[in-house]
Amino acid sequence: MDSKGLSLKAGSLPLLLLLVSNLLLCKSVASLPVCPSGAANCQVSLRDLFDRAVILSHYIHNLSSEMFNEFDKRYAQGKGFFTKTINSCHTSSLPTPDDKEQAQQTKHEDLLNLVLTVLRSWNDPLYHLVAEMRGLQEAPDTILSRAIEIEEQNKQLLEGMEKIVGQVQPGVKENEVYSVWSGLPSLQMADEDTRLFAFYNLLHCLRRDSNKIDNYLKLLKCRLIYNNNC
Ligand SMILES: *[C@@H]1O[C@H](CO)[C@@H](O)[C@H](O)[C@H]1NC(C)=O
Repeated sequence: MDSKGLSLKAGSLPLLLLLVSNLLLCKSVASLPVCPSGAANCQVSLRDLFDRAVILSHYIHNLSSEMFNEFDKRYAQGKGFFTKTINSCHTSSLPTPDDKEQAQQTKHEDLLNLVLTVLRSWNDPLYHLVAEMRGLQEAPDTILSRAIEIEEQNKQLLEGMEKIVGQVQPGVKENEVYSVWSGLPSLQMADEDTRLFAFYNLLHCLRRDSNKIDNYLKLLKCRLIYNNNC
């Protein structure tokens, strides 16, 4: 077999992830001997939930970066889009720490809730991104398939994070806050350059936010599971 089979091509990623999550599942089942099969309330350990969340967030960030790079190469060459993107994401108003130092100083409850809020804020734009991308002239499948995969995995990660918050802060009733996205009309502009810039900006924001989430989750895992010894 060709050893390139293990490189992360968009098509093989879902399968790889499925294998990884099955492995994690087996591991978590094996490490929970006190849970009789079929028991109600049989919880996956916090460590396993974090392992899975970090794999997912890393995967989503990788896909987002690759999707942005592909889009940039295919549609944005020589258009000066990058200089226009500063600070114009729908999540920009959320109080996200800018660097590791700031994140270190943020309470874990706040960081966890922030991750939930950012993930929820992407549900709606990701749904529309996929729908509108289907209509893009000559959209390469490598871009569309990544968008579809990110939309799906974002939901998976959100579910996982809800389980984590349920264990870290049991009984805390939490508001389902999120930042509203109002960018749909800009993805449907008649003027091509305006429309392409709207896509570009959204993908740029997605790459930025997925990077933040990945960093926060790694930090939270280190703090909550390994007592900062990592
Ligand atoms: C995504 O992951 C693959 C496999 O690890 C790697 O080769 C690729 O460079 C990554 N892409 C980005 C943009 O980081």
